[in-house]
Amino acid sequence: MAQIFAVVSGKGGVGKSTFVTGVARELVLAGKKVLAVDCDIGLRSLDLLFGCSEDVVFDWGDYILGRCDREGLVVSGTGGDLIAAPRFYDPALTGENLKKLIDTFAGEYDFIFLDSPAGVGTGFSAAVACAKKAIALTTPDPVCVRSCGRAVSEAEKAGVKDIRLVINMFEVKPAVKKKLLNLDECIDETGAQLLGVVPFDRALTFSAVTGREPDEFGASTQAYQRIARRLTGEKIPLVCE
Ligand SMILES: Nc1ncnc2c1ncn2[C@@H]1O[C@H](COP(=O)(O)OP(=O)(O)OP(=O)(O)O)[C@@H](O)[C@H]1O
Ligand SMILES: [Mg+2]
Repeated sequence: MAQIFAVVSGKGGVGKSTFVTGVARELVLAGKKVLAVDCDIGLRSLDLLFGCSEDVVFDWGDYILGRCDREGLVVSGTGGDLIAAPRFYDPALTGENLKKLIDTFAGEYDFIFLDSPAGVGTGFSAAVACAKKAIALTTPDPVCVRSCGRAVSEAEKAGVKDIRLVINMFEVKPAVKKKLLNLDECIDETGAQLLGVVPFDRALTFSAVTGREPDEFGASTQAYQRIARRLTGEKIPLVCE
């Protein structure tokens, strides 16, 4: 049975979709079956990051609206299998309807990640409705951290019990100089248990642009590897990553 995670944040652009792509890729390399579901209605991006946008014909909105069957939905990319986000909003795109679909995939995968858009709107509600667990991402910027705390409490209200924190784009120097929050302050402010820290890594932007796989020894790849291993139950100590 799949472990199903909603991947959420408060502010946008904190790295959720990049994180889903990186961690899913590591889980696939470790032999796990992974499905990623883009919940960013109207602003899909995971198909690009997975390198399979040309293969996408249908999205989960088409399924809910009766325009395709379940088999036509799934495409394959660098992070495993993917279901693309609807291009347009429709009132039928509810969490309840998406959950019915996701539940049918739970027996076929080890991990399912629902990549939420920023904020706590329709796509967020759809993602958290499908998951009992969530991963909340923030950067160490105080504004991001506060809004991440808000997303954590909204996810809890929606019934998500197990919420872990990932601090992305972390750099030691600004934290030491008190220009950005340190790890303890991020954890205290969001109230979520730390799953991992991903360093700021400019190579990620380049790999998104060029479509080239990131360096396997790169700082972010190593962080994604450690997080993927923690998700599979290994005890990997937190190095300041
Ligand atoms: N650890 C990192 N270091 C440096 N850049 C990063 C890191 N993680 C993500 N990025 C860059 O940040 C930008 C935003 O990433 P991404 O699209 O994954 O964010 P998002 O949270 O999914 O955004 P949205 O809220 O719009 O869905 C991208 O250019 C990506 O390459
Ligand atoms: Mg995104």
